[in-house]
Amino acid sequence: EHQQYIRNFSIVAHIDHGKSTLADRILELTDTVAKRDMQDQLLDNMDLERERGITIKLNAVELQYKAEDGHTYEFHLIDTPGHVDFSYEVSRSLAACEGAVLVVDAAQGVEAQTLANVYLALDDDLEILPVINKIDLPSADPERVRKEVEDVIGIDASDAVLASAKQGIGIQELLEQIVHKVPAPDGDLTAPLRALVFDSIYDDYRGVVLSVRVFEGTVKPGDKIKLMNSGSEYEVTEVGVNSPDPIKRDMLMAGEVGYITASIKDITDTRVGDTVTGAADPAKEALPGYREMAPMVYAGLYPTDNAKYGDLREALEKLKLNDAALEFEPETSQALGFGFRAGFLGMLHMDVVQERLEREFNLDLITTAPSVTYHANLTDGTQKEVENPSEMPEVSEIRNIEEPYVKATIMTPNDYVGPVMELCQRRRGQFITMEYLDDYRVNVEYEMPLSEIIFDFFDKLKSSTKGYASLDYELDDYQQSDLVKIDILLNGDKVDALSFISHRTFAEKRGRDIVTKLKGIIPRQNFEIPIQAAIGAKIIVRTNIRAYRKDVTAKIHTGDPDRRAKLLDKQRRGKERMKSVGTVDVPQEAFMAVLQTD
Ligand code: GTP
Repeated sequence: EHQQYIRNFSIVAHIDHGKSTLADRILELTDTVAKRDMQDQLLDNMDLERERGITIKLNAVELQYKAEDGHTYEFHLIDTPGHVDFSYEVSRSLAACEGAVLVVDAAQGVEAQTLANVYLALDDDLEILPVINKIDLPSADPERVRKEVEDVIGIDASDAVLASAKQGIGIQELLEQIVHKVPAPDGDLTAPLRALVFDSIYDDYRGVVLSVRVFEGTVKPGDKIKLMNSGSEYEVTEVGVNSPDPIKRDMLMAGEVGYITASIKDITDTRVGDTVTGAADPAKEALPGYREMAPMVYAGLYPTDNAKYGDLREALEKLKLNDAALEFEPETSQALGFGFRAGFLGMLHMDVVQERLEREFNLDLITTAPSVTYHANLTDGTQKEVENPSEMPEVSEIRNIEEPYVKATIMTPNDYVGPVMELCQRRRGQFITMEYLDDYRVNVEYEMPLSEIIFDFFDKLKSSTKGYASLDYELDDYQQSDLVKIDILLNGDKVDALSFISHRTFAEKRGRDIVTKLKGIIPRQNFEIPIQAAIGAKIIVRTNIRAYRKDVTAKIHTGDPDRRAKLLDKQRRGKERMKSVGTVDVPQEAFMAVLQTD
């Protein structure tokens, strides 16, 4: 029986603990990739992932492992991202597996996302194999970390593999553990087909490529299939596995992970979490899909060139296939024209979406400052959901405003508890509890407004703890806060895309900071431009951008043609990202200036 030689597992970890490096070593040791083709972080195949050194997308590969028992096993490995914004990807890959390799850094120990990922794996009843990685580091303390895994996570770590993905130590031992500890998949080969779509991507030639885990039955080219949720039917053109390049197969069967293509051109038919079944002999019930992700933050996406609106729509639809957490709907702005309001899981997610749209779809975009969803309770007794600050009703119509709060869990070494609490307090956090995990580490919990976390909280947390603290958060509830909308006026006109919402105590300071910043960013023009911040009809801050007199390059007189060329080039590139707002040219940076606090 073939199934008993299949192992499906995922690698999970807190960011930077070494998942991708470990996956590289596994690919090497199993000769999945010839030595000459090997490059670091092979599974991070997006340019963006390589440049930033982070995993953004899950990635599934098949590999053959000849075990010590003499049998050759078919491994399906799914590498997953570590950053909190992408935990959605993690939960999807786990649903396709029987086991999870949990990588923990031998120096850093258990962190917030280590725990969050373990809980996801436990929800799916996966076998968890702890690996203590980076034992080559001078600061590694594997025995302390082993104890931490047992005490903090509560799983047996006596057999935890001590590894160095960098130096290739412990890899063979891990592969043997996968053979012996991860259960083989079961699933009836003769039952009607049921395959879970855990990812998808649009390919110009092949149409939609579905990544699937087959749970029951088999699927082969020529089969008529049906997507159970959408009801649409297709004929399979190809099935196969990634190893890591696509390899055609005659068939995929229960227990296997691979891909299906079926000339699916209508991308709105496909949905991650859907079940593929046979059209002639459909399964009675779909597999449990995935929980829909609620976006945490919203921002406006506008093409710099208004004529590209249609291209942007098409790009968003294609990208959504590969990024199920992305949401969007059309929006118009007086200042920016036609665009979309898009929902994201966090700032990194937003950043990645913008970059992917620009790189993979060749678009130039203006992104507005992200905002959370507010609830405005109105005097007429109704409630309005406000995803865009410019849509906040007039002060006179509002009874009160509620904002989303999260429960934030921060793990930090003892020494930094003070600075961490100070930071949380400054961001309107309410202390919940604190727990000493062991002699070194503390778990601190705060209730905090989501709006205070999404921007630069993570960076501030890292810098106030020398990089040691880690963060996890989940949406909690809505609470009433004393919030006000601040409008920015350029040359007397309200710029809707620059409006933002702030707690009243910070309103004036933030208004002043932003006006000052805009003054520095918006280029001088041949007339004086007043900039104002206002709450309702009340102007709280005002200043002017003076009219320019001379060409900016005029002041660089002698002998530096290089510098002059650079300056002109910089000006030119900056211009590409400008939007004319009424009579004023506003660069992209200005729309994000609203974000920077402190
Ligand atoms: P994300 O994919 O972004 O979540 O990160 P990751 O967990 O995949 O980590 P990655 O493999 O990118 O490794 C992070 C850093 O740790 C890289 O600079 C690696 O070179 C380094 N690293 C990984 N394994 C080891 C190890 O065993 N020893 C040492 N010293 N460094 C390691």
